[in-house]
Amino acid sequence: MFKDYDKIKELESSYIINTYGRNPEKTPLFVEGKGCILHDEEGNEYLDLLSGLGVNNLGHSHPGVVEAATKQMNKLLHTSNLYYTVPQVELSKLLIENSFADKVFFANSGAESNEAAIKLARKYSELKYGENRKKIITVKKSFHGRTLATLTATGQEKVRKGFGPLPEGFSYVPLNDIDALKKEVDDKTCAVMIEPILGEGGVHPCEKDYLEQAKELCKEKDILLIYDEIQTGMGRTAKLFAHEHYGVTPDVMTLAKALGGGLPIGAMLCTDEVAKSFSPGDHASTFGGNPVAAEAGVAVVNTLLEDGFLENVQEKSSYFVKELEELALNYSSVQGVRHKGMMIALQVDGCAGEILGECLSKRLLINAIGDSTIRLLPPLVIEKNQIDIALGILENVIADIES
Ligand SMILES: Cc1ncc(COP(=O)(O)O)c(C=O)c1O
Repeated sequence: MFKDYDKIKELESSYIINTYGRNPEKTPLFVEGKGCILHDEEGNEYLDLLSGLGVNNLGHSHPGVVEAATKQMNKLLHTSNLYYTVPQVELSKLLIENSFADKVFFANSGAESNEAAIKLARKYSELKYGENRKKIITVKKSFHGRTLATLTATGQEKVRKGFGPLPEGFSYVPLNDIDALKKEVDDKTCAVMIEPILGEGGVHPCEKDYLEQAKELCKEKDILLIYDEIQTGMGRTAKLFAHEHYGVTPDVMTLAKALGGGLPIGAMLCTDEVAKSFSPGDHASTFGGNPVAAEAGVAVVNTLLEDGFLENVQEKSSYFVKELEELALNYSSVQGVRHKGMMIALQVDGCAGEILGECLSKRLLINAIGDSTIRLLPPLVIEKNQIDIALGILENVIADIES
């Protein structure tokens, strides 16, 4: 009944609030996915280099994730957090044993995980230093979510427009500018919140030196260092968490996106010392750590931790980046490549929209950030021959644009 493209398009625009700015002529209707391939309603195949905005790190309908979730669905869908459930405990154990953290709080999305981090940082500070030390410093061009607190934390004016009054106590500094951060930290500051690699901001990595000095500064002033690893986590950069590349651990880290392998789940992880600031009743979520999503998360983490999995991601991403760098040398419209593992951006001054549209018509899914950045977040399970197909399409499109 609902497989006719024009009918779906018509119903979508009559029933669903227009927040996603879709191109009505070109937006595909997907009905199936496996690995790196999506199928539209007519059975056309698309190669997905965006992974549902960094969610499908294990590809679409990963068999381990589907099996784990299906088994759990047949046992227990939901109980509420008034009771114990097994998957939540299993997932927390896996996350804690494989990270800096001692404790976790489960949410349903990235923004909610960041809300939890913001609340925890403020509570930690209030208990130790009183009510007047609540400021959170974030990075310009960062992205932390769309709830009122997280859009205020986001270092981009455009996401806040029209939504005031906004919560107080956020300020912004340029990325990788330690002097600016030092200047902004004052006796009202309780936390610094950073994406180790700006995702929505266009794949701009933090410098190691910057994170080391930021950590030192935070330690000295008892300010919490929060990493938003919602996009960079879960193997995206060929490490389980991106901060492992830097060897600089935070006090708090947030996860979501790829954690549930396609099911919605978020998490805030932290040290014991910080976790103690929350008491029963301070924070909660009806669905947070839902058994099905948590069981999917267990399958995701176990897959990422399989012997050689992340090394293989590193190898494939090095190949991909080497070829993209070659492309940049041959075409003047590609000015450079920024990357960490399978988080990749091409700098393409002014023609990102055109490249995106042409790739879509050749059934290659990529992402454009503004006019000048192409972002690629391929599933980590992408195969070398699929990377070659993607490279061929990108090169043709860029060559056509330049001709
Ligand atoms: C770094 C980062 N933080 C937070 C979010 C918000 O996550 P969600 O859309 O699940 O609320 C995103 C989403 O793109 C993100 O990239």
